[in-house]
Amino acid sequence: MSTVKLQSPGALAPDSNSHTSSRVVVCRDDEITPGGIDLIGLSEGLALPLVDCTGDIDADWMLCVIDGRLMIRWAHPSDGSGPVCATLGPVGGRRFAGLYRHQPLAKAIGRPVTTVVDATAGLGQDSFLIASYGPRVIAMERSPIIAALLSDGLRRSREQHATTARIVGRIEVQQIDAQLALPLLRPPPDVVYIDPMFPPKRRQSALAKKEIRTLRALVGDDTDAHPLLEIARAVARRRVVVKRPDHAPPLAPNPTVSHKGKLVRYDVYVTKGAAVK
Ligand SMILES: C[S@@+](CC[C@H](N)C(=O)[O-])C[C@H]1O[C@@H](n2cnc3c(N)ncnc32)[C@H](O)[C@@H]1O
Repeated sequence: MSTVKLQSPGALAPDSNSHTSSRVVVCRDDEITPGGIDLIGLSEGLALPLVDCTGDIDADWMLCVIDGRLMIRWAHPSDGSGPVCATLGPVGGRRFAGLYRHQPLAKAIGRPVTTVVDATAGLGQDSFLIASYGPRVIAMERSPIIAALLSDGLRRSREQHATTARIVGRIEVQQIDAQLALPLLRPPPDVVYIDPMFPPKRRQSALAKKEIRTLRALVGDDTDAHPLLEIARAVARRRVVVKRPDHAPPLAPNPTVSHKGKLVRYDVYVTKGAAVK
């Protein structure tokens, strides 16, 4: 059985930081729906075994189709962590993009902006928000498994409400390491957005969101966020925006300006003499 180097599913427990090899399988789905997910292609593309997941599974993680959605789930759940998928769309029942324009993230991205690279796309929620402000978004994600979940989320969102479909139509997913891809982009993007895996608080009062716990368990902490920021600052035409937890210091000293949200902060690094708006 081929394996992918991942963190232990035990890392789903808060504050755990163990790095071990975990195995991921793709679950065979007998109900093939036309236009649905090509599980054979997925297992070949990700070099993961395609297995029957009805009995005991000799793996740690399963990629499976539930209600037409590609989801990842821990094969032996014991902490209540359910399956996770990428969901791109309006949050909190809001339907129209204009409602997001006064958010701290929108202020941090600035205007006018044509192209934004989301260099740490994850499950794409921030890519969706940024695309809702108007620019084209190149969503870079280096984990092939997370990128597959994100691509599936985009596919489903295109079939939703016309406004949602129009927004996700501006998002392009690239499964690639942004450190390698950013310097090669022509033309360079106006803005690079970076949301590295947050450093965990020493004591967490509540479990982190299910999606973030799963991402951390799958890909670990982004310990190379500093070099990514330096590359982004050399490439972005206008600015680099870094999302940080409110308790964390800036990734690099002296951001030009910071926009505070409820629990997070967006540190803006203006590049090459561009004016802050
Ligand atoms: C905290 S998550 C981002 C969550 C995302 N903002 C969202 O809204 O879902 C960080 C993600 O960035 C990815 N990542 C980290 N460094 C990267 C790099 N250099 N290139 C591409 N992806 C990267 C990780 O694999 C992980 O999926």
